[in-house]
Order: sequence, then C-alpha cells, then structure tokens
Amino acid sequence: MIKAAISGTGLYTPPDVISNEELVEAFNQYVVNFNELHASDITDGTVQPLDESSAAFIEKASGIKNRRVINKSGVLDPTRMAPYIAERSNDEPSIQCDMAVHAANEALEQAGKTVADIDAVIIACSNLPRAYPALSVEVQSRLGIDGFAYDMNVACSSATFGIQAAVNAVENGTARAVLVISPEICTAHLNFKDRDSHFIFGDACTAIVVEQMETVTSQHVYEVVSTKLKTVFSNNIRNNFGFLNRCDESGQGKPDKLFVQHGRKVFKDVVPMVAAMISDHLKENTLSPENLKRMWLHQANLSMNKLISKKVLGRDPSSLEAPVILDEYANTSSAGSIIAFHKYRDDIKQGDIGVICSFGAGYSVGSVLLRKC
Ligand code: COA
Repeated sequence: MIKAAISGTGLYTPPDVISNEELVEAFNQYVVNFNELHASDITDGTVQPLDESSAAFIEKASGIKNRRVINKSGVLDPTRMAPYIAERSNDEPSIQCDMAVHAANEALEQAGKTVADIDAVIIACSNLPRAYPALSVEVQSRLGIDGFAYDMNVACSSATFGIQAAVNAVENGTARAVLVISPEICTAHLNFKDRDSHFIFGDACTAIVVEQMETVTSQHVYEVVSTKLKTVFSNNIRNNFGFLNRCDESGQGKPDKLFVQHGRKVFKDVVPMVAAMISDHLKENTLSPENLKRMWLHQANLSMNKLISKKVLGRDPSSLEAPVILDEYANTSSAGSIIAFHKYRDDIKQGDIGVICSFGAGYSVGSVLLRKC
C-alpha cells in the first residue's frame, strides 16, 4: 500500500508589518472623522457614535501584536481603510499566483524535488481572485507543471482539507506528488472599519509537498498517519460576497459582503469541537495524548489554542508543544497552522507524533496526524 508523506514546506511572508498601535491609530482617526461628520445625527440620536479601539485590548483578547500585509498604506489611510492592490492585466501573473510560486519554490527545494516530480497543484484558501480560470491552473502553468490543478475553499480549514485531497491522490496513485498551496490575502476581505474585528487578520502564503513515502529524499519527512475532517453548518462566521451580488443593488457595498463573525459564539462552539476531534483522532489510531509531541493549531486566538491544547493533553501545554505564530502574523486563515508547522517542527524526534489542526468558518475542522521519520 502506498503511504503519503509531507516532505517540504514553503512560506511567503509579505514585507509590510502593521503593529497594533499603528492599526489602532488609523482606526481611531477614522472614528474621530466619522463622529465629526455625523455630529448632528449623533446628537439627535439617529446615528450611533463609534467607539475607539485599543491596542492593549487587541493583544489581551487575541494574542496578536503585529500582522504582515500586502499593502500597508491603504489599510492605515483613515479615509480608505482597505489595502491598495492594483488590478493586473490578464498577461501578468496575479498577485496570489506570485505568492504561491514563491512559497511553492521553497517547498520544492526543501523536499529536494523539481516541478518534473509534481503531478498536481491544489490551491486551498479562503479567498480566490476570480471565478475562472482557476488560480491553481495559473500557478501550475507559471511553475511549469505537467498534470492537473484545482482550487478549493474551506475557509480557515482549506489547507488541511487540501492535504487530505493530496494524500488521497498520492495513496490511490493518481499523482506521484502534489503541491498544496494557500495564498491568503485576508486583509482584502477584512472590514477595517469594524472595531470588533479590524485587528484579526494578516496576509501570507504557505505551500506543502505531499509525496509517496518511497520517493522521499528530504532531510525532514513526516509520514501522514491519518487525516480526519468534519463540517457543521454555522452562520457565526460569514461573508456574503459572491457572484449573485450584482443581481440585487440593495445589498451592494454592505458590511456583510466582508468578513463578519460572532467571536464569542465561535470561541464557545469551536473549542470543544476541535478538542474532541483531536482526541478522537488519536484514539482511532491507537494513540494517546502522551504520544502527542506537537500541536500545530490554527492561529486565530491565543486563549482558544491554550484551551484546546489543555483539553487534549489534560494539562497546560508548554510553548513548544503548541507553538504560536499568531503574535507576529495575526490570523492568516488556512495558512496559520502550516506557518506554525513550517517554523516549529524540525526539533521533534524520529517517531514523534504531531497534529496539524485547522478550524474555522463552516464550521470546519481538519486534523492531520503526522509521524516524524
Ligand atoms: N478595542 C477595545 N475594546 C473592544 C474592541 C476593540 N477593538 N472590540 C471589542 N471591544 C470591547 C467590546 O465592546 C466589549 O466591551 P463590553 O464588555 O463593555 O461590552 C469587550 O471588548 C469584549 O468584547 P468581545 O467581542 O466579547 O471580545 P472577546 O473577548 O470575545 O474577543 C475576539 C474578541 C474576536 C478576539 C474573540 O472572541 C475570538 O478570537 N474569538 C474566536 C474567533 C475565531 O476563532 N474566529 C475564527 C475566524 S477564522
């Protein structure tokens, strides 16, 4: 029986950094401008004044200190509050394609593979640039891969769902090796005018090489022991942007066409779901929490990750057992758990078990159990 392994990962980190302080300064200037502009309506009670944000609140509530972004100036412009990302002509590579190629090249180098060894490209991310042609086919062409490609979106769980698809392709013989790439420009769907969520996201792109165990040549190889996925419908994280928007003018430009969440409810619903998923997945593979040396968790909220790890391990995790990248990257949707895996894995020992676990909108949860080879 063919077994699949992860043999390389790559990361594209945008050069621009925004600290909580910078973000809050821009937000608070937007609030001052809004309240001045609507002063008379606020006085007669027809418009609610906006409240200021706070850098201290953001760090305490989420664990986020900085975020990497594709464009800083647009986000920090209080008259705009959105990144500037220029449209490109059809003859140029799209921006997500550029990010994907960068991360893919690093993953291929780590795996000791060339594009000739890859049969498929899966773009797995929360936001795709257009309806068609698929971004994955564009990336496949830029990389020069002979094979097939497709896009998939399972929000924050896209990468782990993509890994399961890649593992299936490798283990059933339809591909020798697959690239799973997650180019996330979360700042483009974030409402920077919304106090409750303006601090949540950043941008990044990750890539993973999944190949047959018997072809691996990389120094750091992780056998995929098992994958497990779950989805449960919820409106608590939602974005109504879509191709039907043009059919009803009354909804165009409304806040629901960007990311909206009920953060408290998400926290309450998702923590037990994820902890149960990892615990069950271990049991199904005759493993116990003591076997689990690392948890590369989705990076949305620090307290959430601490609570999930505590429920799974039955004690507080050490900082190495559940590494955090959220402080410097914020939530990069599906890229988050893979960034944690990319940065904090080489020190675990041969035979050690780790889990990549993502969770988010849908709701969706993806668990990938790995054994270091
Ligand atoms: N600055 C200052 N205060 C703020 C604020 C801001 N930017 N945003 C909210 N507050 C205030 C609220 O008004 C509220 O005040 P009140 O208690 O006087 O009513 C208080 O802070 C708590 O607000 P709340 O929204 O309940 O915060 P929280 O502690 O739940 O933290 C999140 C918010 C979003 C960080 C947290 O709920 C979370 O991360 N949830 C999980 C989200 C998740 O995983 N999503 C997946 C996305 S893919």
